[in-house]
Amino acid sequence: EVKSVTCVAPVNIAVIKYWGKTNEKLIIPLNDSLSGTLHTDHMCAKTTVAISSRFTKDRIWLNGKEESLDNPRLVACITEVKDRARNSGKLTEEELQWNVHICSENNFRLAAGSSVIGRLVYSLSSFFLLSVFFSVYALATLYKIDGDISAIARRGSGSACRSIYGGFVQWITGTNPNGTDSIAEQIVPASHWPEMRVLILVVSDSRKKISSTSGMQRSCETSELLKHRVAKCVPERMTEITKAILKKDFETFAKITMQDSNQFHAVGLDTFPPCVYMNDVSHGIANLIHTINRIAGRTLAAYTYDAGPNACLYLLEKDVPSVLAAVNYFFPTDRPKGEYYRGLNVDVTS
Ligand code: DP6
Repeated sequence: EVKSVTCVAPVNIAVIKYWGKTNEKLIIPLNDSLSGTLHTDHMCAKTTVAISSRFTKDRIWLNGKEESLDNPRLVACITEVKDRARNSGKLTEEELQWNVHICSENNFRLAAGSSVIGRLVYSLSSFFLLSVFFSVYALATLYKIDGDISAIARRGSGSACRSIYGGFVQWITGTNPNGTDSIAEQIVPASHWPEMRVLILVVSDSRKKISSTSGMQRSCETSELLKHRVAKCVPERMTEITKAILKKDFETFAKITMQDSNQFHAVGLDTFPPCVYMNDVSHGIANLIHTINRIAGRTLAAYTYDAGPNACLYLLEKDVPSVLAAVNYFFPTDRPKGEYYRGLNVDVTS
């Protein structure tokens, strides 16, 4: 007998950034964070998980290629899921002994027909960790686990736990040292603000970046600014941006989003040796957004950058054509016009 379940993984883009952990192993964050989950067929990973008495060991395939299961985070997820399944009492002793096969495929490259989306994915969240997260989701379904599973997903990659819900989602730090209350919660579903869009501007960069995991570790050890951010700025911004989202106040939402991104990158520079993620083109795009917002006399778009040079723009649907026109004019590309990918709530351009 084989039992299997398939699920699809969306990407999330933080407006209040997660940066720093209080517990490396359990992945407990230093501060609360908040993101929007993208809904698009162009950027997702499909994961199928199967358990069977016939499987002789746990195995994982990514895009058709078998990968080693010696990744400690993946092992932590699978172990946690199996432990919880054991405690749920819903599976027979025999079923609990069954091994797991995980098969995950992303359509990022397929959708793009080029490596651009591939690069993009690596800067958003590594595909591997995204797969880990959705394996957890699928595994939890398969093992009939009740209750909060974002705490398990967190063991794969911190920020990925916010993808468990659509719309705007917060990941709260929690107070429990074992991390059980460090969970993702939906603030509003996507239908609350249906005009909201995200444009992802792919900025190529050949520099080898410092991974989020080691970058944030280094910031915790060396940045004074990070302490101030965690103690004062993030709590205030979480309250204010949540209010703005509930009221659909784009002006305030955009300002806080840009300020938080800027402070996150300032923490990167305050880290020693510094973590530099934005490049000249990234800064050029940020300048352009401030310029068009000033000329328009209102906020058309907000930029935010993660641990890489790509710009993510939050904007309302009515402003997509003018913002895209400005971006295409000031950052012309030799890629054929129209080669960006319009999903439900996301456009990808380069
Ligand atoms: C800059 O979730 O990749 O994207 O928990 O170590 O796997 P680990 O880190 P990761 O960090 C993402 C950081 C960020 C901000 C964010 O998404 O909140």
